[in-house]
Amino acid sequence: MAAHLRDDDRPLPAWTTRCVNCHVGTSKEQAFAPPLTRDSLLGVTSRRGGPISSYDETAFCRAVREGIDPASVLLRKSMPRYRIADAECVALWRFVVGR
Ligand code: HEC
Repeated sequence: MAAHLRDDDRPLPAWTTRCVNCHVGTSKEQAFAPPLTRDSLLGVTSRRGGPISSYDETAFCRAVREGIDPASVLLRKSMPRYRIADAECVALWRFVVGR
């Protein structure tokens, strides 16, 4: 899946773009990136100090493509922006939340 960092049009090497590379860890504090789990995404909570929000399919795909969260807060540059087809993104969302 093609991805790049914000303000940098060069494609990232493929081996760097797997979600688990960054979204894995034993606790929220230790992980480089927040957990990608059903609970963390569907949970209604404040993210990055913004207003409370939770993800749905549309918000998830926007975050993955554009790096903007459901409360319209811009994600850090360290979260890549992915070029991903609708069907692929829906499949990824369903895989993550188990629906
Ligand atoms: C190079 C490391 C890296 C990779 C690879 C990566 N992410 Fe991220 N991701 C991050 C970081 C860092 C954040 C937190 C950004 C912030 O808080 O501003 C993040 C945040 C997110 C969020 C927002 C979570 C929340 O609770 O608001 C989602 C959704 C997400 N990533 C999905 C993905 C998916 C899906 C993939 C694979 C297709 C992926 N990420 C790959 C680093 C990465």
